[in-house]
Amino acid sequence: MKVLVTGGAGFIGGNYALEMVKKYPEDEMVVLDALTYAGNLETLESIMEEPNFKFVKGDIRNRDFIYNLFENEQFDVVINFAAESHVDRSIEEPDIFVSTNVMGVQVLLDACRKYNVKRFHQVSTDEVYGDLPLDRPDLLFHEDTPIHASSPYSASKASADLLVLAYHRTFGLPVTISRCSNNYGPYHFPEKLIPLIISRALNDESLPVYGEGKNVRDWLYVTDHCKAIDLIVRKGKVGEVYNIGGHNEKSNLEVVKTILKYLNKPESLIQFVKDRPGHDLRYAMDPTKIQTELGWQPEYDFDSGIKATIDWYLTHKDWWEHIINGEYQAYYEKMYGNR
Ligand code: NAD
Ligand code: TYD
Repeated sequence: MKVLVTGGAGFIGGNYALEMVKKYPEDEMVVLDALTYAGNLETLESIMEEPNFKFVKGDIRNRDFIYNLFENEQFDVVINFAAESHVDRSIEEPDIFVSTNVMGVQVLLDACRKYNVKRFHQVSTDEVYGDLPLDRPDLLFHEDTPIHASSPYSASKASADLLVLAYHRTFGLPVTISRCSNNYGPYHFPEKLIPLIISRALNDESLPVYGEGKNVRDWLYVTDHCKAIDLIVRKGKVGEVYNIGGHNEKSNLEVVKTILKYLNKPESLIQFVKDRPGHDLRYAMDPTKIQTELGWQPEYDFDSGIKATIDWYLTHKDWWEHIINGEYQAYYEKMYGNR
């Protein structure tokens, strides 16, 4: 089958492409990415020359370009990772979140209708459910928890989910949606909490923790997320939403202190800074449906996952240093400038 992976030069899409190109040599994969600040072709370096892989630079909002691509490639499956993904950036600049995360998704849905794509999978987030109180550990997000978004980012992702489900109900488009908790692992852009703390701690820089660091996130190692998406695309039921999470709730302060302990760095690096406006208190997923229906189980708990992540950042300094010094943006020119 022929698969389009949008946003595959980003963190999760990149991990997905790296794993699935090798796992399914009989499938063809096209990665489409606009290479915004968050896209990094260096992530895909090891599969660039694989015979079943192709990279295309382009924007999901560009209808003519997308229709052309679908016409030429005749995809069987489209998996949409492409998005503006950083809550803090959505507070500074909401427009592009609506533009890419909502309008861009609509273009993809229209293209899937027009070219009879057999499955459109939308990669969504637990943030569409809003947040849970800190003092009620018994409460979890279920697939039927009402949508209740807090930030422009989560509102844009929630809007996309509603559109995807509407295209299924109204036009019979074969769709699935996965909503995952916070991911971490290799190739995570170093402005998100975990890679930010690792890279700054390694450079003995101060570590910004919002508010009192009490907010809780439910951390999932990225390859466990990719395996879940693969299962949903191949075996999931059309029209369904699947929650993904591994019951690894940690406060931000616990996460930061764990990283400092592994790196043998002092807690005095921690600097409490002004809180994020509208900061969600706690996310926690109930993944029972994907576990019972599709047999998914995560391989990593937080201890093994954070250790693997730190080891990766220690052995792949070039990757994140190129981001911090801006060199990664020259990579496309180097690889594709003369093609
Ligand atoms: P990311 O920001 O690392 O990657 C996003 C990618 O999309 C980048 O490569 C970027 O260049 C590309 N992109 C952005 N706008 C585009 C456009 N208009 N056209 C084409 N490409 C475009 O994000 P991520 O963390 O890898 O997240 C991937 C998806 O997973 C997103 O949809 C996000 O909402 C969702 N998600 C993320 C998490 C998480 O913890 N990171 C958790 C749950 C769900
Ligand atoms: P982030 O990685 O931005 O993911 P999200 O907001 O989508 O959950 O942030 C994870 C948590 O860490 C969130 O509660 C905000 C907090 N945080 C900090 O305390 N300091 C930081 O510098 C960043 C980027 C995030």
